[in-house]
Amino acid sequence: MPTETTAPVKNDAVRDSAFLRACRREPVPHTPVWFMRQAGRSLPEYRKVREGIGMLDSCTRPDLVAEITLQPVRRHRVDAAIYFSDIVVPLKAIGIDLDIKPGIGPVVEQPIRTRADLGRLRDLTPEDVSYVTEAIGMLTRELGPTPLIGFAGAPFTLASYLIEGGPSRTYENAKAMMYGDPELWADLLDRLAGITAAFLKVQIEAGASAVQLFDSWAGALAPADYRRSVLPASAKVFDAVAGYGVPRIHFGVGTGELLKPMAEAGADVVGVDWRVPMDEAARRVGPGKALQGNLDPTVLFAGTEAVETKAQEVLDAAAGLEGHIFNLGHGVMPSTDPDALTRLVEYVHTRTAR
Ligand code: CP3
Repeated sequence: MPTETTAPVKNDAVRDSAFLRACRREPVPHTPVWFMRQAGRSLPEYRKVREGIGMLDSCTRPDLVAEITLQPVRRHRVDAAIYFSDIVVPLKAIGIDLDIKPGIGPVVEQPIRTRADLGRLRDLTPEDVSYVTEAIGMLTRELGPTPLIGFAGAPFTLASYLIEGGPSRTYENAKAMMYGDPELWADLLDRLAGITAAFLKVQIEAGASAVQLFDSWAGALAPADYRRSVLPASAKVFDAVAGYGVPRIHFGVGTGELLKPMAEAGADVVGVDWRVPMDEAARRVGPGKALQGNLDPTVLFAGTEAVETKAQEVLDAAAGLEGHIFNLGHGVMPSTDPDALTRLVEYVHTRTAR
């Protein structure tokens, strides 16, 4: 009996949180704040618990994942936690030989370049990532009223790592496949959409209250190419999890020209980087979506006065929006002073309290 009565009370508190209310474009007690990459190298307590443990190994240890996810919530009092993992974790889980190299990023031993290579991308099952289910179970118990955001890499951004074999500035191999062998490209993105959807489902079923699809590198594409060659796969991911009723966030960097088609892929919330002011982003996205963003992460190196001036500019530009979630325009940079982040959360909460 007690479990039946206590669980829904907590769920109500999560459902009624400022973050989830803003995602649903409902009135909020204050503008909610969280930061992409809020867990990680900017925090000394993160560096301490990660000592001697590889990035991908740390992602498979539920106790460590839960602790790292909670660290920024305790320290900064952000309005949401983001599950500690990486976009390449589901690929590793289905047997792709990859690693995350410090200071470089994901590196794939044998890139995916041919139709035969597609056979290496099998479907993802919940058993492949049982540590995710376990860690989210621990987290939802410990987070109380704070919502947990699950996430995955979008098909294009995952494909860019798989085809290039690592980070790239130009994506010449990925784009060569997209332009030169559109059928193989479409099949690859469709496979990745299936894997990504399965990975998001695991997180939602374990208790994630929202999900974010990171298409970090989509800004490399012209709108027409995005629409033709990428949008269908991302839309498939959003469709696959629509039935759960949890807010779906869609984010990329340098996507000023893509905000409209990215919104059309089906998310409830569109993430905006710092290059487009929030009011202009809202015009481009159109009605019916909440927006997330968009302080330039480098502003945090400029001192409290500059941070507050620039944060206020974001709040002013977003003042007319139906739903605004305050975030950075991209992830927290590792050398950021964590106290600057704590002060920023406090500033946004104080300035927007109603
Ligand atoms: O706090 C959070 O936001 C959750 C954790 C998180 C990580 N990666 C942890 C991580 C999230 C959401 C990601 C997503 C991710 N990973 C993206 C999309 C977000 C974005 O920034 O655009 C991308 C492109 C990746 C791929 C990736 N993984 C890169 C480029 C790097 C950096 C490599 C480096 O060392 O500079 C990683 C590694 C990574 N992912 C780290 C962390 C904390 C650093 C590894 C470490 O701490 O040892």
